[in-house]
Amino acid sequence: MSVPVPAPRIRAFESLGFGMFIHWGLYSQLGRGEWVRHFERIPLETYDRLQTTFTASRFDADAIARLAKEAGCRYITLTTRHHEGFSLYDTKGLNTFDAPHSPAGRDLVREYVEACRRHGLVPFFYHTTLDWHHPDYDRDFRSYLKYLRESVKILCTEYGPIGGLWFDGNWSKPEGTDWEEDELYALIRRYQPEAMIINNTGTIARGKLGHPEIDSTTFEQGRPEPMDREGMPKYVAAEMCETLNDHWGIGNLDCNYKSLGRLIENLCACRKVGANYLLNVGPDGEGAVVPMQQELMRGIGVWIDAVGRDPVYLGRPCGVHGLDDPKDFALKEEGGNRIWFFIHDLPAPGDGTVSRSFDGISGTVHDLHWTDNGECLSAFQSGGRTTLTLTRYPYGTSLVVRVAEGILIGGGTRA
Ligand code: GLC
Repeated sequence: MSVPVPAPRIRAFESLGFGMFIHWGLYSQLGRGEWVRHFERIPLETYDRLQTTFTASRFDADAIARLAKEAGCRYITLTTRHHEGFSLYDTKGLNTFDAPHSPAGRDLVREYVEACRRHGLVPFFYHTTLDWHHPDYDRDFRSYLKYLRESVKILCTEYGPIGGLWFDGNWSKPEGTDWEEDELYALIRRYQPEAMIINNTGTIARGKLGHPEIDSTTFEQGRPEPMDREGMPKYVAAEMCETLNDHWGIGNLDCNYKSLGRLIENLCACRKVGANYLLNVGPDGEGAVVPMQQELMRGIGVWIDAVGRDPVYLGRPCGVHGLDDPKDFALKEEGGNRIWFFIHDLPAPGDGTVSRSFDGISGTVHDLHWTDNGECLSAFQSGGRTTLTLTRYPYGTSLVVRVAEGILIGGGTRA
């Protein structure tokens, strides 16, 4: 048995590495998360009135794309329609529950796609499959699925090439429900042959493989586990999505933000197993990203700029593990001979050295240095162990995770 070779679109997706998720819809006006209608049992007529106050007056797609760039993201996944059933795009007459029929009066998905293109970001579309608004979802499921496909066809034909479709909601009906996935995915392959197809398996079934057309597993709000691809019929990527606090859609009173240090560690934990990190922002009711969320995203960009983009995007898991600190790991350059050691928990700034050992390297490590300041370091190799002699942070610095780069000559790594 062997590990299958990834299709080019799947390989390209893995190199995107870090993306920005955006949860935005009518619910954002209430500021209590995207499940507010469900949890507060808001009657449909009351909830639907949110369409009449949806102005998108502060939705600036260009500013969002710039923020994603500053954060070091290479793609964005926007909720084009969430469980509430409201579309941020023009549904072309499928119904009037869309942004063009709100006071916003604009196709917000078009603005988003154009902004992504201007800034070299790959646009992805989140699309719900669970629908609280469409009467046929409960009444006539086959007819609802037709509506879903017609909606997806619009997304696949109106906005030029997209990175992929990210579905969510199949977990809402009992196992074994026929979602007519064959038809849905055939439609995408026909109109967007290079698009990734993702269908979230939810918080319970993290990392589960779904339909054979699915190109990436999802790890919602979790730690991504290494994928065992031995003997798989097809190489499937992995992506972990996570909230900055405890909500996807904005929670005005959700103060439980993760620290910047933890977000940096989570990005590293994803790359450690070759997974992408999709980190969510939830703009407010008018479409603006609140300052706290902006700053956390920008903070990650500061870290990526400091350690360098190559380790984050080009590094691939290579079976090298830290023996002193279990969080430590190494990534090898795809198609090259650089090796990057991701070092956690270095002591505070000061003099003195720290040593960290790794297993799994058979070649020799040369030219070792910190990527952030270029300082030379040394490596000692014996008995299958590679021990790095590292310096502490220079005064004025504490990067949470620091990266040492070396050149690997002869031999290689375990994977
Ligand atoms: C869950 C939630 C949904 C959210 C998604 C993001 O499936 O139902 O609100 O969009 O996770 O991963």
